[in-house]
Amino acid sequence: MRHLLTTKGLDRDTAIGILDVAEEMAEASARTVKKLPTLRGKTVVNLFFEDSTRTRISFEAAAKRLSADVINFAAKGSSVSKGESLKDTAQTLAAIGADAVVIRHPASGAPTVLARSGWIDAGIINAGDGTHEHPTQALLDAFTIRRRLHGDASRGKGLDGVTVTIVGDIVHSRVARSNVWLLTALGAVITLIAPATLLPIGVGHWPVAVGHSLDRALETNPDVVMMLRIQSERMQASFFPNAREYSRQWGLDDERMARLYPTTIVMHPGPINRGLEISSAAADSAQSTVLEQVTNGVSVRMAVLYLLLSGEREGLA
Ligand code: CP
Repeated sequence: MRHLLTTKGLDRDTAIGILDVAEEMAEASARTVKKLPTLRGKTVVNLFFEDSTRTRISFEAAAKRLSADVINFAAKGSSVSKGESLKDTAQTLAAIGADAVVIRHPASGAPTVLARSGWIDAGIINAGDGTHEHPTQALLDAFTIRRRLHGDASRGKGLDGVTVTIVGDIVHSRVARSNVWLLTALGAVITLIAPATLLPIGVGHWPVAVGHSLDRALETNPDVVMMLRIQSERMQASFFPNAREYSRQWGLDDERMARLYPTTIVMHPGPINRGLEISSAAADSAQSTVLEQVTNGVSVRMAVLYLLLSGEREGLA
């Protein structure tokens, strides 16, 4: 395969291989001269039909550190707002000579459509599609957990037996889905905690335990607590009584934070609703990896671009 569309089906060895290449990229990024000549002459297009801060600038930084040319395309302000189709947009990018297209789209499956369409012969990277998947977010989360647990000895390791509690708006979360498939493949043990209204239909078939009480989940002292953003923009109905009630039952507030084991890692993909799913003190604490996740995102995306564009594309899903 030539694309990164999903973490579902990504086998353990391939996943560890990507994380190990990301370690090499992190090492290179720590040098005084961060730039590598590896992708000189290649063109990477960031095709964003939905807003993004972290993913877009991180892919741009990653491509530039590998010396690729980068074209940033936001649907707002482009001919998409005049009604241009995905097909015509893709064919325009093909005519420009894109080697890789990093696509974020509100429709679940849009990156897969692009990859299978034949409209463009570029490597397609899913940067978040609807409520479906966000594979590079899961890879950077796995990389962050592995580094926190194993430090410099991370290479070659999975996440065997690591307990991860993912909390909140699971139903709308592409981050949760990609993490469930990837972290499970790496050997982690996952529990999802949410109100019943924020759990997807069919979650009983996922390789996870499911519960509703955050307090009970925290009593088990998980290695990782991953808080998810409440995605109000995807909510057409009321999924919980009000923000205060949500925060009281499912938020990582200061009191719950104080009860965590000092070694428990607190993660959040961002952007954060401070005071709703996580308190400021929890997000900014020494146990929080929020900014580490952003830093690691560049190394992971460098690894993915490198593997897609340097002739080693076969291993990716
Ligand atoms: N985590 C994440 O995808 O953030 P952005 O929406 O800012 O890219």
